[in-house]
Order: sequence, then C-alpha cells, then structure tokens
Amino acid sequence: MTRLLLPRSPRGQVFLLLLGGLGAALCGFALSQMAFFPQTPNAPALVTRVYDSAPTHEVTTRGEFLYQTQCAKCHGIEGHADAEGGEHLQPPPRDFATRPWRFSVTRASIRHVIAQGIPKTAMSASKHLTNAELDDLTDHVLRLSRNAQTTTNRPAPPADDRWTTAGFTRRGTPRPAPALEITSLAGEASSMSSFRGKIAILNFWGTNCVHCLQSMPALSQLARELDPEKVVIVNVCADTDDVAQIDKVTRRFAPQLTFYVDDAGLARFRYDANLLPTVWIMGSDGQLLGRSTTAPDWSGAAIRELLAKLSAHPG
Ligand code: HEC
Repeated sequence: MTRLLLPRSPRGQVFLLLLGGLGAALCGFALSQMAFFPQTPNAPALVTRVYDSAPTHEVTTRGEFLYQTQCAKCHGIEGHADAEGGEHLQPPPRDFATRPWRFSVTRASIRHVIAQGIPKTAMSASKHLTNAELDDLTDHVLRLSRNAQTTTNRPAPPADDRWTTAGFTRRGTPRPAPALEITSLAGEASSMSSFRGKIAILNFWGTNCVHCLQSMPALSQLARELDPEKVVIVNVCADTDDVAQIDKVTRRFAPQLTFYVDDAGLARFRYDANLLPTVWIMGSDGQLLGRSTTAPDWSGAAIRELLAKLSAHPG
C-alpha cells in the first residue's frame, strides 16, 4: 500500500518533500498567528480580527500593538508611565523618556527585561512572546525611550480651578489624541481626527456602567445648550459593539445624543479607558487637554464655564 502512495521517480519524491515542507510552513504560520494574542484575555475578539485583516492605518506595527495591549496599562500609551494602572505601584512603572533607568537603555537589556521581568516588581516576565514579537516590542520601547516630550520634568501648569471644579484633571502636557476609528449607530464611519476644529467631549461609556447611564440625561441637556459648531459630544461605547444593545440603552437614557461604536475595541488601550466612564476633553487642535474618570456633573455651572473658556481661548 505504502509503495503505491509514494512516487517512484526521484523527481516525484523531491516534489512530495517540497509539498510536505510547504504544508509544515503553512501550519507553523497558522500556529504563530494563534499564539500571537495569548495574553490579552480582556481584549475583545474583535481586536484580533482587526489586526489580522489590518484594514486601516490604526494599528501601525506589531510592536506598537503588543505594547498597547500588554504594556500601556502600566507604562502609559506613550511610555510616560501616566496610566491609571500604574499609579499605585511601588516601584512605579518607568517613564521611558526619563533617565536613569534601572537597567541600561539598550536593545539587549530591554529585550531581556521584557522576557524575564524584574523580580519583586509589578514588571512580570512575558514568557509567551515569540522571538520576533520580543524584537518588535523592544523596537517600540526603544522608540518610546527617545520620546523627548516628557511630563515628569515639566513644570505643572498653573492650577486652574475650572478644571478641578468641573471634575477633570488637566494634563501637564497636552498630548495628541490617538487615532481611533469609530462608527455611528447609523453605520457611518468616523474617526477622532474628524472632530478637529471644535472642542470635543470624548465620553467613553459602557452599557453596564451605572454612573454612565445616570449621567446621560444631564449630558443630553448640556448637548442641547451647546453650539454644535463649537463643541461636540462624542459618546463612544467601550464595553460592547452590539449595536442593537447600545441602541436599546441609549434610546431609553439619551435619545438626543450621538453614539458611536469602538469597532476595534482599541479605546481602552489608546484612550486609557479601562475605567468607565473615562471622559477626555480634546482641544480644537486635536490635543487631549484633561480627563475625568468619574461621571462629571454635566448639569453644573463648572463644566459650562470650562467649555466657554476653552471655546474662547482654544488650546
Ligand atoms: C503591571 C504593570 C506593568 C506592566 C503590565 C508592564 N510593566 Fe514594565 N515595568 C513595571 C514596573 C513597576 C517597572 C519598574 C521596575 C523598577 O523600577 O525596577 C517596569 C520596568 C520596565 C522596564 C525597565 C526599565 C528600567 O528601568 O530598566 C522595561 C524595559 C519595561 N518595564 C517594559 C515593559 C514592556 C515592554 C511591557 C509590556 C510587555 C511592560 N513593561 C509591562 C510595570 C509594568
């Protein structure tokens, strides 16, 4: 039987060998793709899908993607250690732009730290990464380490009570709003950059977030008072992409507001929206100016004064 299956001529055998090799390579590739997202249990399955088909410019490199999904929750999106997740850690996560580091800022050293972790710190080993993923991640950290703009060694901006009383923390250094593609409930594709030119309230909320839902009626009222040419309210649902479910909830709580879906599930990583609500205020120049992780008092005078001030002196 076996003899019948194997080609007799040497040429035929070589062909069979090549075919086998190709099959093995394909299997290997498929397996490496599967192993690529092993430690992002919370990332919606959609993230994987979007990355695989890479339909947009949103996900630029694999290193950046791995960083955003696995490291940014402590080290911050741009490596400035300003993420919520790192705030209470001792020692704190490194701001990659500052010096000195505990270890040297070299490719070999960074790669070693990522693979092995740092004992007795929150920096754990990433044993699941392939060599190629480790290389890409190392490259991305090196890029962030050259990121000259750093919040740590800049003087804090003068205290501005308007931000605090409105329930926001003003950023020391504004940073460009990360790219994010969103889709309106009506199915229209949009992106954060399309709101440039206006002050934007970026409200990352969730269908399971009670505070978010409770604050919606007051937010609707605010939306009615604002001049839509000057201030827009962008509500991005960050806990589900089920349009029917979002539609149902929003019809009940805030039928007048405009809602978007975060198709790729990247808001949590790019806008640090792990806690809901997370509200960012974006200046008309596309810079993120301040953030709130509590549901701000949308019915109060403070938020109105803050928005009026920002509209009068953008930036
Ligand atoms: C749970 C929080 C956490 C996560 C997630 C995390 N880190 Fe860290 N990382 C830390 C802490 C804390 C330190 C600082 C330890 C110290 O000061 O010794 C650190 C240190 C480092 C350092 C060494 C800097 C130096 O001073 O030598 C590098 C490089 C690094 N992290 C890269 C990464 C990368 C890449 C990822 C993603 C794969 C990651 N970290 C994920 C918390 C984290």
